[in-house]
Amino acid sequence: MTDAAHDASHDASHDAAHHRGSHGEDAHRPQPGHPHSGVARALNAVSLAFGRGAVATCVTDLALLTPADHVVDVGCGPGTAARVASRQCRRVTGVDPDPTSLRLARVLDSLRRRRNVQIVEGSAEALPLPDAGATVVWAISSVHHWADPTAGLSEALRVLEPGGRVFLVEQLKDSGARGNRAHGLTDAEVKGVLDQAKAAGFTAVRRETHVAGRRTVAVVRGSRPGAAGRETSPEL
Ligand SMILES: C[S@@+](CC[C@H](N)C(=O)[O-])C[C@H]1O[C@@H](n2cnc3c(N)ncnc32)[C@H](O)[C@@H]1O
Repeated sequence: MTDAAHDASHDASHDAAHHRGSHGEDAHRPQPGHPHSGVARALNAVSLAFGRGAVATCVTDLALLTPADHVVDVGCGPGTAARVASRQCRRVTGVDPDPTSLRLARVLDSLRRRRNVQIVEGSAEALPLPDAGATVVWAISSVHHWADPTAGLSEALRVLEPGGRVFLVEQLKDSGARGNRAHGLTDAEVKGVLDQAKAAGFTAVRRETHVAGRRTVAVVRGSRPGAAGRETSPEL
């Protein structure tokens, strides 16, 4: 993704958050005439569609997907990670509040032969999904956009089946970073997400750092308590 596109990405996502006043669908729509409502959103969605393969592969590998898994990708954008994951699991549901990203995700998915990806409009704070229907929930470069991470994590826990795994993935940034280096989370903010995941009720919560292509990403992972999942290592 280019720096300009990254900036557009950040702006567009924050615009989506800015317009989130309720959990209704219209609350996520860009307002007519807004400077980022047209070309910038489209450019952003396209750049995300073609610049995120390494992170998508990294997260898919970390999740150790099997053909039994149902993945929910919260803040899926144009759906890169959803499509990568769909080759290895039963089903993927991508959720995003941004209509431009949703449209592109659906178009790109329609070009594929497999029919196991569903793209739905919604936000982390009010996932339009039933209780305990997913085995994996992940959010890639999305948590730092959420208006209410506590609500988002509680929703992630709700839609996971007992033993299900969560992966919260963010690019690491330096505190004081500016411009296009300011996207992502600082070390301290990642620790905050880890604490919020524990408070939400996840178990075996831990933090890792991975290099994915040119990016260094922090991953906070954990499990919904209950049945024996695969994320059973003790808390670090
Ligand atoms: C930087 S993009 C990342 C997209 C995708 N996960 C990827 O890695 O290519 C951030 C995404 O988070 C979405 N987003 C913003 N606020 C959100 C919220 N409250 N709930 C879910 N997604 C949100 C944006 O619409 C945008 O598609």
